[in-house]
Amino acid sequence: MRPASGQCLEYRHGELFCEETPLQSIAERYGTPLYVYTKKAIVENYRAIRRNLDDLSSLTCYSVKANSNLSILKVLRDEGAGFDIVSGGEMARVLKIHADPSRIVFSGVGKTMDEIDAGLRAGILMFNVESEDELFLLEARARHLGLPAPFAIRVNPDVEAETHPYISTGQTIHKFGVAKEDACGLYQRGIRSRELQVRGVACHIGSQILDVGPFLKAFEEILAFAVAFRGEGLENLDLGGGFGISYEDEKPLEFALLAEGLKTRMRGATYRLILEPGRSIVGNAGLLLTRVLYVKRHPIKNFIVVDSGMSDLVRPALYGSFHEIIPLREVNARAFRADVVGPICETGDFLAQDREMAEVRAGDLLAILTAGAYGYALASNYNTRPRPAEVLVDGSRTELIGFRETVENLMAREAF
Ligand code: LLP
Repeated sequence: MRPASGQCLEYRHGELFCEETPLQSIAERYGTPLYVYTKKAIVENYRAIRRNLDDLSSLTCYSVKANSNLSILKVLRDEGAGFDIVSGGEMARVLKIHADPSRIVFSGVGKTMDEIDAGLRAGILMFNVESEDELFLLEARARHLGLPAPFAIRVNPDVEAETHPYISTGQTIHKFGVAKEDACGLYQRGIRSRELQVRGVACHIGSQILDVGPFLKAFEEILAFAVAFRGEGLENLDLGGGFGISYEDEKPLEFALLAEGLKTRMRGATYRLILEPGRSIVGNAGLLLTRVLYVKRHPIKNFIVVDSGMSDLVRPALYGSFHEIIPLREVNARAFRADVVGPICETGDFLAQDREMAEVRAGDLLAILTAGAYGYALASNYNTRPRPAEVLVDGSRTELIGFRETVENLMAREAF
């Protein structure tokens, strides 16, 4: 029962540490349920991506949706990252931390007029446009505001990526992007327009993809557009994100191999490569601390009831995702099989099913691993549960980077 590498987690004298800090002391200080992130892992994950792109002109735009905490955005801004945003809310976040607008790309299939206006006013690098209607609205708003409208077409490359169907995006049956056959017409339209400026071509085929093949196929598709419209100003090749990580015993996507494949295909070209990684930067840099409330034993089924649930981490309930769960005090033997469940009134409220677990008792603390991406970001207030606090560990220092909500906070926005 060992934490996977890359998470800055290890048992020392039987106690689980995150970087130089014992998690037990963090739980005692800030309470549970609690999201804990390691700065070191975030920075290392980002730098590993950058290292592999060393000899390319490239920009890494962290995908804010994976974890949008302002302190985490700041860590990545300080490392030189750009940002991939998908809403006016995410735009407000990156502007709040003074991100450089010329390093922001705006994706998303349903941008509203207000969101488009905000992007135009901010002077972002480019709008990744996903439909003809959106391109027309972008042009109209740019004319209205007297501002230029840099854009890429997000092409749907019709490439199958082996991942959960809910997070697969690159096929014609999915709502995302513009069909290959229609993209040329939109570029022509952009070239004729006074406001629209051709800046790039984009795609994003899905998330948690472990195999390099689909990325290279998609890249070849977008490269063809880049070649066709290079003379018209198309200089950014945005391959999106989706680089898979290890939750259980999967082999993570071999990023070095992907980078090699991209370099081979780009040989001699003068494009800038843009990537939009989210999970691969923050996924294994976060965990959810929870306390055991009760252990319910039964001859045919055991339950460990904890103080966290699907409102804090919905991935197991929504996608059937696996998250390793380990005790804060090291136990060597796995002792019994149990479901780890939350207090919420839904049978789908589980964090693990039929899992071999260490012996635990009420009051014990558990760490739910690899919860840094799409953990807090997808948390809800179901059952009027305040969302957890968030703490960033930096060596032996801890910082509260997200206050725990209170029930008062939740009720304050309602009239009665
Ligand atoms: N770019 C675009 C346009 C995206 O839609 C996404 C993710 C990303 C980049 C970042 O993908 P990443 O590198 O994080 O895989 N809630 C799901 C994942 C949803 C992903 C949505 N789009 C989960 O918990 O697995």
